[in-house]
Amino acid sequence: MAFETPLSRRTLLKGGAVTAAALTFGALTAEEARAAVDQTARSGVFGFGVASGDPTATELLLWTRVTPTPDATPGSGRGPRTKVHWELSADEDFRHVVRQGTEWTDAGRDHTVKVVVHGLEPYTRYWYRFSAKAGTSPVGRTQTAPDEPGSTHALRLAFVSCSNWTGGFFTAYRGIAARDDLDVVLHLGDYLYEYGNDDDRYGPAELAGIRDHQPPVEMLSLEDYRLRHALYKTDPDLQAAHLRFPWIVIFDDHEIANDAYATGAENHETQDDPDTDYTAPGSPTGIRPEGDFQARRRRAFQAYLEWMPIREPESWQRERHQGTQFFRRFTFGDLAELSVIETRQNRSQQVPATADGVVNPALADPARHLPEPQQLDWLTRGITGSRAAWHLVGNQTVFARLFGVPALGPVLPGQVFNTDQWDGYQADQRRLLDAMAAARGADPVVLTGDIHASFANDLPRDPTRYPVDRNSVGVEFVCPSVTSNGFKESLGSAATAQAVTAAAQVANPWVRYLEGVGHGFVVLDVTPQRVQADYWFIHSSGDKGLVVDPRLDPQATVGYETSFASVKGTRRVSGPVAQLGPRSDQPRTAHR
Ligand SMILES: [Fe+2]
Repeated sequence: MAFETPLSRRTLLKGGAVTAAALTFGALTAEEARAAVDQTARSGVFGFGVASGDPTATELLLWTRVTPTPDATPGSGRGPRTKVHWELSADEDFRHVVRQGTEWTDAGRDHTVKVVVHGLEPYTRYWYRFSAKAGTSPVGRTQTAPDEPGSTHALRLAFVSCSNWTGGFFTAYRGIAARDDLDVVLHLGDYLYEYGNDDDRYGPAELAGIRDHQPPVEMLSLEDYRLRHALYKTDPDLQAAHLRFPWIVIFDDHEIANDAYATGAENHETQDDPDTDYTAPGSPTGIRPEGDFQARRRRAFQAYLEWMPIREPESWQRERHQGTQFFRRFTFGDLAELSVIETRQNRSQQVPATADGVVNPALADPARHLPEPQQLDWLTRGITGSRAAWHLVGNQTVFARLFGVPALGPVLPGQVFNTDQWDGYQADQRRLLDAMAAARGADPVVLTGDIHASFANDLPRDPTRYPVDRNSVGVEFVCPSVTSNGFKESLGSAATAQAVTAAAQVANPWVRYLEGVGHGFVVLDVTPQRVQADYWFIHSSGDKGLVVDPRLDPQATVGYETSFASVKGTRRVSGPVAQLGPRSDQPRTAHR
């Protein structure tokens, strides 16, 4: 997002401000930088854990990474072709193995393994593990989707975004892993960040030397992207959250580079700086020519597809699309559908909120797009044609109109806060609002990350007439970041953040809840009568409260904050409401 990112190399180059600190970028050798990841690779054949994903009624994807020989470390390109055996069992002791098989992997896919298991029972719990010559993986738990025609089951998921390694410990993931009531974890993007550890470090300075990125510079090569994914997968809290539940994942910008669009990114410099001799001895390794953006994005996608529990695009759902189809749809009986969209690959370049002293007319240009037109068609058809009670949309950037507030700088009347979100693509925003208004069956619920703050929004079709004309066509729930800097860190204090968020709610009265201090996750529960979002925040251990940044505390805990809901048929946010109770039913376990 455009809001709060570190100085990019581009900024440094453009400003000519290559400081002495920047010149020490290369102090950590590439070999030293890999030590943490190497250690995990050596700590076990399956040291990066196991994961499952993309659950349907009858299919599950299983994932792992094998290190067959000590030199076969992530990104290295080394290590032999390796046979990996997998088992899926109806019981956790593997007495009732229902499917098993073998897969080959090699350095060409960084020794990652993906298996799609077919022919399973709906809404049923399974356990899985991998084995290779040298060892056996931890046992993962997973389940098929609560998706049976004619039956309505409970549906409860956690959704998260913006998990920056250098931003803090992944306490939010630990809180998710400790739960027993989720069907799935939905990650809406910024699963990892591209920045290095020096001038482009992103996150609290206190964690320098404690929680550093590997590689230590901005990821750019395929080796970099693989090594960064591997680093994140060393985190025990992240591993635990993957091990406990199937995930549905989609990337946002930072899996590639900040504020990515179809042909570039804010944090990508296609043109090499003519004033820098990159080949000179002692040339700062942190300032590398970044080359062709499309080639960089292909490397980012390759590493993402290798290391994330996501099915191969277009292998199981195929719609008209542009580029690679990452968008896809999940069904949950007559209760809900979930359309997961992808909004970086084909988007038009971002434009400023104002131009020549007026609100920028380009924001409403129908030739500019966020998803490509084919994807938006697929989404709007899905929403208007849905017969389920709810149509959930897994979305990256904020969908509701958000006008700027003077507390963040001078604003013109009608000036939007952030043009990297749907407000920067108002023709597409309008088309989706119109589709929501036309939907007669399902009530639309947008689930969003990116902004590093918690929201519950009505979605007025015409915000300028709200609340006089209460024509809300759906609701939006926005999760806080796992660790990335929020309003508090960006604005300097919790008090300032609270003043700004209060002003933002006055300027945007359809924002029914806005909290800019907490980090954590949201639990979404869906019944035929209502959807409810419970917000969970991380807290410092002991009695330190807001004095100590809970992101710095490896012993931090998660605590319940508040809940908002939307009652079927109202298309509006209600609340606050009481915290969720137990699920109405549980996935089946065939054998105990
Ligand atoms: Fe983010």
